[in-house]
Amino acid sequence: MSTIILGIESSCDDTSAAVIKDGILLSNVTASQAIHEAYGGVVPELASRAHQKNIVPVVDQAIKRANIDKKDISAIAVTLGPGLMGSLLVGVSFAKGLALSLGVPLIETNHLHGHILAHFIKEENENKTVPPYPFLCLLVSGGNSQIVKVSAYNKIEILGQTIDDAAGEAIDKCSKVMGLGYPGGPIIDRLARQGNPEAFQFSKPNIPGLDYSFSGLKTSFLYFLRDKIKENPNFIEENKEDLAASLEKTIVDILIKKLQKAVKETGINHVALSGGVSANTKLREAFQVRGQNKTWNIYIPKFSYTTDNAAMIAMNGYYKYLDKEFCPIEKPAFARVTI
Ligand code: KG4
Repeated sequence: MSTIILGIESSCDDTSAAVIKDGILLSNVTASQAIHEAYGGVVPELASRAHQKNIVPVVDQAIKRANIDKKDISAIAVTLGPGLMGSLLVGVSFAKGLALSLGVPLIETNHLHGHILAHFIKEENENKTVPPYPFLCLLVSGGNSQIVKVSAYNKIEILGQTIDDAAGEAIDKCSKVMGLGYPGGPIIDRLARQGNPEAFQFSKPNIPGLDYSFSGLKTSFLYFLRDKIKENPNFIEENKEDLAASLEKTIVDILIKKLQKAVKETGINHVALSGGVSANTKLREAFQVRGQNKTWNIYIPKFSYTTDNAAMIAMNGYYKYLDKEFCPIEKPAFARVTI
């Protein structure tokens, strides 16, 4: 008999549902929320309302596109945390209700584990190389910047992490200071392609071990702009491509330097990239260079699996189902939790 997992993700501003059958992805449907663009960041109350509107059609579409009947579902995997509580509650309540009505087990998924396990998502007829255990993963998103060691799907250890802002958060805030839109990552990425990454220098942190820090960079970027605008009110408009390219280079240099250190210290040279910031062109290039010159064996996710999606949640759920790791129906969502 086949194992069919329905995955549900609603931790931030994407409502997503996916179906995995015997480890193969059949569908992955995501409704994003453009409403937050006007506010320069995710507004929690608006996010949970949009999830409420989207959850039924998104799950319905995921089941239809997978061409299965809901009665065939073996278990429901859902993101229990970390994330925005109001957003999480929509997906978690829906998953619990559906699991109870179908009489199938509920599987708890950590959102961050999901991002890492995105590397194991397999589509039909896809012949892909998955990272062998143990591997290192750079997990970079709007809320996290971590280097983790992955020894098994459920054995993930943090080697280093940001002590203040995440890389994505720093990019988004610098983009906001420049008067660009939200989220800043894709905008900075696009502008940076036409700019000179050596045009401006920004401060880099000096943090011991494998930890990161991005708040100093954000502040130095802000003060730099403030001083330049005093001299020339059109400074940002006239230099936005160079500013984006220089900021992006600084962030990628910081991320890669610590990752190199982690490879050296652990002796593990299978290195994966995960999370929303892994969509960044320059960061991907920095990985590709190390893959081409065989310094590292690299694993870069498909663009569709860089941002929040339920395929990664269903994948995690599939492994847990095989290990019969189920979650009590009364277990609550949790906004704050580590890996
Ligand atoms: O993983 P994610 O979708 O959400 C969580 O934070 O969980 O990551 C979102 C972050 C945002 O900060 C966004 O600006 C950033 O990923 N991002 C990018 C790019 N695309 C998204 N950052 C740099 N370059 C990109 N192309």
